[in-house]
Amino acid sequence: MNAAAKVKRIGVLTSGGDAPGMNACIRAVVRCGASHNLEVIGIRRGYKGLFAKDFVELGPRDVANIIQRGGTFLETARCEEMKMPGGVEKAALSLRERGIDGLITIGGDGTFRGATALAEAGDVKVIGVPGTIDNDVYGSDYTIGFDTAMNTALDAIDKIRDTASSLQRPFFIEVMGKARGFLALGVGIAGGAEEILIPEVETSIEAICEAIRHNIATGKKSSIIVVAEGDDAGGAIQIARQVGEQMGIEYRICILGHVQRGGSPTARDRILASKLGNMAVQALYQGKSGYMVGEVGGREALTPLEDTWRLSKELSPGLLQMVKVLAT
Ligand code: F6P
Repeated sequence: MNAAAKVKRIGVLTSGGDAPGMNACIRAVVRCGASHNLEVIGIRRGYKGLFAKDFVELGPRDVANIIQRGGTFLETARCEEMKMPGGVEKAALSLRERGIDGLITIGGDGTFRGATALAEAGDVKVIGVPGTIDNDVYGSDYTIGFDTAMNTALDAIDKIRDTASSLQRPFFIEVMGKARGFLALGVGIAGGAEEILIPEVETSIEAICEAIRHNIATGKKSSIIVVAEGDDAGGAIQIARQVGEQMGIEYRICILGHVQRGGSPTARDRILASKLGNMAVQALYQGKSGYMVGEVGGREALTPLEDTWRLSKELSPGLLQMVKVLAT
């Protein structure tokens, strides 16, 4: 995976769902690249930009005033063409034609599947940077955008708590996170949720009803039930309907949706994005390829790209038990 030859011109792209902090990461890549006298080429709309040859030269002044902006100024896409036969070879050819010998891909597991294939194609050195609000990537404790999304969802939950307790209604609040429960668990704990429903743990409608009954009997004014969008029992609508039918109570549902993906990145996300962008350039500069940069236990970590999507990141098992204790 490591090769001695140094890179001279590096490409950077953002792919998949955008995440707050991606701009801060692009800025770090461009400026760290410039400090090593590397040319940096932005590729617009993720891997799609490789097929469309949509390139833009980026210097330090081109990334001024973006560290605080949500989304990604390079734009992003989910690219089906990469998965088609011959797609990876075509993408590699496009990089070669533009003289790009190192590529930094910022995104989640889908992005890294493509990045793994590109790194294996051998022409270009590839380094991944984890950027997704889902925090579901193996090889980094936190992904860029997760902290901001948690805080955005938390702001909404705090507001909902005001109305939920005033009218004494249970609320089912659905958060994103794809097939994993990191976002739900994080915002649920921070928002003092009475119940957190995540795909990693089987959901029992009876247990939710029992918890709400207990809350009412012990004088709680509100029950906030945070539902991960990928929960096995369905989304907030399906779960709330079943609970409502069994208990004969009034309830409300709030699906936070794409609000969670937008907004100015938190300080924590900007710092993480800056560190990982810088680290990705250093890795390429040292001739490394086929890795994702990340932080594990507060330390810099390089993880083989393939492991980032083949291996599953663990949720802290004790946290759900803690939620039950704290919600009493
Ligand atoms: O992966 C990020 C994410 O926001 C997920 O949490 C969510 O399931 C998905 O993307 C939504 O994708 P789209 O923006 O394509 O609807």
